[in-house]
Amino acid sequence: MNPSELPLVLITHTLPDDWLTSLEGKVNSKIGPTDATYFSPDLEAHLEQAEGLFTLLTIPVSDELLSKAPNLKVISNMAVGVDNIDLDACTRRGIPVGNTPGVLTEATADLTVSLLLASARRLFEANLDARKGLWTTWSPTGWLGYDLDGATLGIIGMGKIGKAVAQRAKGFGMDLIYYDPNRIPDFEISLSVRFSPLDQLLHTSDFVCLHVPLTPQTRHMISYDALRAMKPTATLVNTARGQIVNTEALVTALKEGWIAAAALDVTDPEPLPPNHPLFELPNCLIVPHIGSATRNTRRKMAELACQNLLAGLVGERLPHCANPEVYET
Ligand code: GLV
Repeated sequence: MNPSELPLVLITHTLPDDWLTSLEGKVNSKIGPTDATYFSPDLEAHLEQAEGLFTLLTIPVSDELLSKAPNLKVISNMAVGVDNIDLDACTRRGIPVGNTPGVLTEATADLTVSLLLASARRLFEANLDARKGLWTTWSPTGWLGYDLDGATLGIIGMGKIGKAVAQRAKGFGMDLIYYDPNRIPDFEISLSVRFSPLDQLLHTSDFVCLHVPLTPQTRHMISYDALRAMKPTATLVNTARGQIVNTEALVTALKEGWIAAAALDVTDPEPLPPNHPLFELPNCLIVPHIGSATRNTRRKMAELACQNLLAGLVGERLPHCANPEVYET
């Protein structure tokens, strides 16, 4: 078929060809730059004809953008989080939004545990000090960290990633508690994880990790009060979304010793400017939103995003839809 007869799909980023093979011969694609952080004007010029939109989490999709795309049948976000997209506006316009849960669970849980271990054992500071020539002897009191064995891990958000973290943490001998608006009795029994109200979890955990989506309810869930409630020896690990934590409050908490350390894969703003106060704190380990960044995982995310896209283009239900209410209207 002549490519111009195929449905027009805007792909906001240039991605490796072998991630998108299932689209070959099925769509006519227009592709944006490699590391796009906004909707490229070149693509915007085609919005009116576009039937599909393949997005990444750095691209905000607003109601205004949607108003320029009257023929859009589907948006497919190559991410599990969809906070970059105005979901209500999509639902009102009858546009299903696909996301990629499941395929990135293990990679993100691995990164969470990496951050947990790295901050417990102060790897960031120890590495900096070794490079600075401060490793002058085997110091009996140098770079003392915390044990995971026997420590309490408080998991906020017990979805797929929270559960995968719990399974890994059990292997390190940690005592597990969790907070989630929905209790999960079977999981509590199978892994001896105890439910805890949020304020109690913050008071009792040695490590707190976040696995909730960013919503109006979870924005700044880790506030000044929440950080003040934590133990001075506690560590906060965030591999979810930066805005779940009030950044100013976190800077204060780390500087004033309300908590011992933080390890962040996500920040607010994101990326953090190089002169941001968090970068000056040796007790804050920061990595650039790499939770799902393994070769296999990113390829699987792209493949699932292609499946969602193709289903939406032919009017089928998306395998993973973030706004299922769209099918009720
Ligand atoms: C990554 O942060 C994702 O939402 O997939």
